[in-house]
Amino acid sequence: MADRKTVTITDNASGERVECDVIEGTHGRPVIDIRSLPSTLGCFTYDPGFASTASCSSTITYIDGQEGVLLYRGYPIEQLAERSNFLEICYLLLYGELPTRAQWDAFNAQIRRHTMVHEGIRRFIAGYQHDAHPMGMLVGIVGALSTFYHDTLDISDPKHRELAAIRMIAKLPSIAADCYKYSIGQPFMYPINSLGYVENFLQMMFAVRAEPYLPSPVARRALELMMILHADHEQNASTSTVRLAGSSGANPYACVAAGIATLWGPAHGGANEAVIDMLRAIRDPAEIPKYVERAKDKDDPYRLMGFGHRVYKNFDPRATLIRQACHDLLQDLDAGNQPLFEIALRLEEIALGDDYFIERNLYPNVDFYSGIILSALGIPLNMFTVIFALARTVGWVSQWMELVNDAEQRIGRPQQRYVGAARRDYTEMKDRG
Ligand code: SDX
Repeated sequence: MADRKTVTITDNASGERVECDVIEGTHGRPVIDIRSLPSTLGCFTYDPGFASTASCSSTITYIDGQEGVLLYRGYPIEQLAERSNFLEICYLLLYGELPTRAQWDAFNAQIRRHTMVHEGIRRFIAGYQHDAHPMGMLVGIVGALSTFYHDTLDISDPKHRELAAIRMIAKLPSIAADCYKYSIGQPFMYPINSLGYVENFLQMMFAVRAEPYLPSPVARRALELMMILHADHEQNASTSTVRLAGSSGANPYACVAAGIATLWGPAHGGANEAVIDMLRAIRDPAEIPKYVERAKDKDDPYRLMGFGHRVYKNFDPRATLIRQACHDLLQDLDAGNQPLFEIALRLEEIALGDDYFIERNLYPNVDFYSGIILSALGIPLNMFTVIFALARTVGWVSQWMELVNDAEQRIGRPQQRYVGAARRDYTEMKDRG
C-alpha cells in the first residue's frame, strides 16, 4: 500500500529482515506494531515497566510529557479546570462528549439514584479494626460490591457495564466518607442529593447529625479542582492494573479494587500522603539541603516525594493549576504561613535550582501540592490516597469500559526474559551434599 509506513528490523546474525507497520494516532508518537516478531525473528521485545510500550489504543486521555499537555477526550485540562465541574467531566470521560442539557439532567438523576450504599456494607465496615488504614478498607469494600450488586456482573451486557460504572462513581463518595467516619468513631452520614457531588462528599465527611453543616465554597472549589486533575491519566500503573484485570473478564468491582490496591503505593497515588510525611520529617527549612543531598545520593534510596514523573519530563500541567489553587486556599484560610506550605515552597525553590533535578527534569508533580490542599482542608493524612481513588474511579471505569469494548484486546499476558537456572535433573536428598 502506497501510504503504508513501516520500519525494518534486521537480525544482523542471520540477516533475517522484518517489516513492521508504523501506526499513527491522533496526537503523539507513532507506534511500531511488533506483534509479528515472535513468529518472524523468533524474539520478544524487552521493556521492564513498559515505559516504551503502548498497551492499547485509547480515545480517553492524551498526555504530552515534553510539552506538559493533558487532554480529556481532546479538551485541554486548563479549560476543563476553569469552566467545567467534576461530574460533567465524569460524563465526558465515560461517554466521550460533553453532555447536552437533557443528557446532563439524565446523568445527574442516575448518579443521585445510586449515591446510597447497601446497608450491609456498613455492617461489613464494622469488621475492620478502628485503626485500619482507610485504603485497606476501600480495597476490601469496593471488591465486595460485587457480592451486593449481582445485577451488574454480566460484562457482556452493556446495561450491566454502564450501571456498574454509574454505581461506582455514585457510591465512592459515600464509601470513602464511611471509611473516614468509622476510623474516627463517628456515625455515618447519608448523602444529601440536593447538594452537588463534591459538596455531598464533604458533608458526609465532616457533618455530624447534631449540627447543620455546609462546606465553604473555597474548600469545595479546591477539592473539586483536585478531583478534576486526578480523574484520568492514560495508562498509569493503577489504570493498567484495572485493564489487565478486566482483560481476564473479571467483574468491574474486582477490577477497580485491583486499581485501588495499585494506587496505594508511595511511588504512585500514595505519593500525596508521602509528600506530607516528607515535609513533616524535614520540619525546618534549614534542614532542606540535607534531604536534597540524600535524594541525589545513589547509595541512598531516599527520593523527594512529589517530584518527578514517568511521563512528564518537563512540568506536570496539573501541578501548575493546583499550585495556584493551593496558594489561594491557604490565603483564604489565613494559613499562608502554614509551616508545611512554607517548607514545600522552599523545597521547590531549592530543588529546581539544583543541577541534579534540572538535568533530570525533576519537577513537582500534582501530588506535591494536592497533599497540602487536602491537609489545609482538614482531611487526615491516611485519607489522601482515598481522595485520589475517589477522583480516579471515573478514569478506571471509563478505561475498563473501553477495554471491554475493544475488539483488538485479548487477555493480557506479557512475556519475560528468563535468566534462571538452565535445565537440570532432580537429585535425591542423599545426593545433595
Ligand atoms: C503519580 O503514571 C502516572 O500518570 C501517575 C500519576 C497519575 O496521575 O496516575 O501521575 C500519579 O503517580 C505521580 C507520581 C507520584 N510519585 C512520586 O511523587 C514519588 C516520587 N517520584 C519518583 O518515585 C519517580 O519520579 C517516579 C516513580 C514518579 C518516576 O520514576 P521513573 O520514571 O522511573 O524515574 P526514573 O527512575 O527514570 O528517574 C530518572 C532519574 C533517576 O536518577 P538517575 O538514575 O538518572 O541518576 O531521576 C531520579 C532517579 O533516581 N529520580 C529522583 C526522583 N524521581 C526520579 N530523584 C530524587 N527524587 C525523586 N522523586
